[in-house]
Amino acid sequence: MSEPRPDRYGVVGNPIRHSLSPRIHALFAEQTGQHLTYEALLGTPGQFAEEVWAWFSSGFRGLNVTVPFKEEAFALARVLTDRARRAGAVNTLWRDDERQLHGDNTDGIGFCRDLDRLGGEVPGRRVLILGAGGATRGLLQPLLERHPAQLVIANRTASRAEGLAEDFADLAIETELSACGLDVLPASPFDLVVNATAAGLSDAGLNLPATLVHPDSLAYDLVYGPGAARFLDWARAAGCQQTADGLGMLVEQAAEAFAIWRGIHPDTAPVLRQLRHENDAA
Ligand code: ATR
Repeated sequence: MSEPRPDRYGVVGNPIRHSLSPRIHALFAEQTGQHLTYEALLGTPGQFAEEVWAWFSSGFRGLNVTVPFKEEAFALARVLTDRARRAGAVNTLWRDDERQLHGDNTDGIGFCRDLDRLGGEVPGRRVLILGAGGATRGLLQPLLERHPAQLVIANRTASRAEGLAEDFADLAIETELSACGLDVLPASPFDLVVNATAAGLSDAGLNLPATLVHPDSLAYDLVYGPGAARFLDWARAAGCQQTADGLGMLVEQAAEAFAIWRGIHPDTAPVLRQLRHENDAA
């Protein structure tokens, strides 16, 4: 008897060619013995909904969604998890037995899991997030559920940060949640400083004061690879000894999606080691 066909999964984005997700999910499948394929799918702006339905109709069991389609995936999903609703964006789609489309957002929990790996404590600590776009919105619920003492959202456009602080005020039960512009940052150091701006991707630096960190702070850039260098170099120059780019978060958010689809949570540590190794060798 021939072997059953593998279940199909994929990630939709534009551009998508350089996505690490197919590699990550292939390593998860190998590790857990799951019979599946995972493809990079180029989405067409303006045709996201039609393409998603076509992919599911042709047999896909689940899709990850990345830039620039996460908000469209949010609008498309009929059933949303609480954290996806809060994030206003969806990165993981699947259908139930009645073919209803479900959407979740695993970015924030992926970020928190990576903090756990790094020993970056949040409860009772002072946290600064730079940026107030979609990336920041995705982090706020999981972070606030860990009850930092203080959480400051700082953004070039202060009003956007203020809007986010208002939207999440009800979750700030044990946290002093506030917002400000990047030009009026508090002078005292933070235990965790997260760069969630797109500044590292352009030539523009953030021009941050060294007083934002102390030697034991953790500086974390949500981007991985060269895009994170500028912020992490700043942090090291400011005396911060622990820095991390977003590769760990990428692996952790993928593991959460894999667990939703397959009911089994892969061990992320060997996969992250393997990716770093492949990256260094490239
Ligand atoms: P994402 O979904 O990645 O968060 P976004 O919603 O476009 O993308 O948000 C980009 C974030 O990076 C915003 O916080 C933006 O600041 P503004 O709200 O003031 O636009 C921030 N950003 C982008 N380029 C920046 C730069 N050169 N300096 C500082 N902040 C920058």
